[in-house]
Amino acid sequence: MELLRIEDLSKSFGAIKVADGVNLTVKEGEALGIIGPNGAGKTSLFNLISGSLRPDSGSVHFIGKNITALSMENRCRAGMGRTFQIPRSFCQMTVLENCLVAATAGGRKSETQSYLRCAEILDQMRLIKKANVLAGNLSLLERKALEVARALSSSPRLLLLDEIAGGLTDAEAGELVKMIKLVHQGGTTILWIEHIVHALMAVATRLMVVNFGAMVMEGDPAEVMQSSLVKRIYMGMEAA
Ligand SMILES: Nc1ncnc2c1ncn2[C@@H]1O[C@H](COP(=O)(O)OP(=O)(O)OP(=O)(O)O)[C@@H](O)[C@H]1O
Ligand SMILES: [Mg+2]
Repeated sequence: MELLRIEDLSKSFGAIKVADGVNLTVKEGEALGIIGPNGAGKTSLFNLISGSLRPDSGSVHFIGKNITALSMENRCRAGMGRTFQIPRSFCQMTVLENCLVAATAGGRKSETQSYLRCAEILDQMRLIKKANVLAGNLSLLERKALEVARALSSSPRLLLLDEIAGGLTDAEAGELVKMIKLVHQGGTTILWIEHIVHALMAVATRLMVVNFGAMVMEGDPAEVMQSSLVKRIYMGMEAA
């Protein structure tokens, strides 16, 4: 089943085209990896999908509805969750409270349902023992895991992850990958922007490459990574 469809989406900031006629369809159950150089427009694409940015032209469709004019809050309630490149948890609230806010406001759940769901998610994201710790006191890996837990608390069908492994050691990134894999296996569709390619490759069922706001390539992750186009534009290497 088609979950997300983007049609001819464009957005410019002055002379910078952050989205340049992007077309994309994501089926339920996919894990789509997104790579591209710094400033290519990856986060802007997430902002356009999740509604914090309005396109100049084109449309976004989610679960069969045109949501181009829908607010960010209503897209969240419709089943979209996202994490931010710079974690945005509430530092003065506990880990559990951070998730409860998302579950009640974004997921429209009752208090009891929210507690149960959040406990389940915190267990899944290996944060259950930190449930009563202030978010500001977490390690980087824990903050990243909380970012995912918070996004999951609104029970999204589509989860957008923006460089969730950035800044982690290899071992920590490996831990996070295991958790994200389980989220995907649990049935959540994932769009994941990541510079740490080996983390992405462990989860992605499809890979797309963004450059200058345009989707320049997409397909099987291993094939895309081996392509001379990716070597040239993404890794800064000469084509073989
Ligand atoms: N609100 C804004 N106003 C003006 N320019 C912006 C705005 N948001 C992003 N840009 C510019 O648009 C371009 C794309 O930014 P974006 O954050 O989407 O890139 P990115 O692919 O996520 O990069 P990175 O890998 O560094 O996170 C950059 O040149 C950025 O400076
Ligand atoms: Mg970005």
